[in-house]
Amino acid sequence: MFTQPIKLINQTLNKKFNKPFNQIFTLFTHLSTHLSTEKAPKQSVYQIGNPILRQIAQPIADTSDREIQQLIDAMLVTLKESRGVGLAAPQIGKSLQLLIVASHPNQRYPHAPQMEPTAMINPQIISHSEETEKGWEGCLSVPMIRGLVPRYREIEVAYTDRYGDRQVAKLTDFVARIFQHEYDHLEGKVFLDRVESSLDLVSEDEYHKLLQVSKVS
Ligand code: NI
Repeated sequence: MFTQPIKLINQTLNKKFNKPFNQIFTLFTHLSTHLSTEKAPKQSVYQIGNPILRQIAQPIADTSDREIQQLIDAMLVTLKESRGVGLAAPQIGKSLQLLIVASHPNQRYPHAPQMEPTAMINPQIISHSEETEKGWEGCLSVPMIRGLVPRYREIEVAYTDRYGDRQVAKLTDFVARIFQHEYDHLEGKVFLDRVESSLDLVSEDEYHKLLQVSKVS
């Protein structure tokens, strides 16, 4: 019953854009994703003390579920408006194994590398370097505080993307740090649990003073 209309659309699109239908379809999927992202409302971010941040997040069974796709859109909007570089679903009240890594240079992280915001579903750390490195972290759920946190410098990760495909990626330095920070949220941990000493904690204002010093020296 549906064969004929789809064929017709297919032919029309192929003629119009001079491209195979599947490419057009991909384009439309990306366009609709983009449009729905614009429409999704910004969510409030849960702060430390809320029990949901201490729960173990549940795996996601169906990535194509409309609610999951809407949750990803809401997280992308929330992240963009909060100028964050990463966000985990429990931070907006959903205890699900979903995180977004979105490294880009900005006021909060001026030295961050640029990348396309990436939603990672049911993420795993497959392997990691022996080497760890301390670096500054903040968290939208822990306002006004920065901490020096040791993380693996290099990790290999697996995750399902928002289109349902399983991906494997090697992440290094700041991007690896973001992933580990967000992954911790799925295990009910925050960066404060990882600092080696309370002397490694500073206020946001003091952190920006430190940045000024490191620019000069
Ligand atoms: Ni965080």
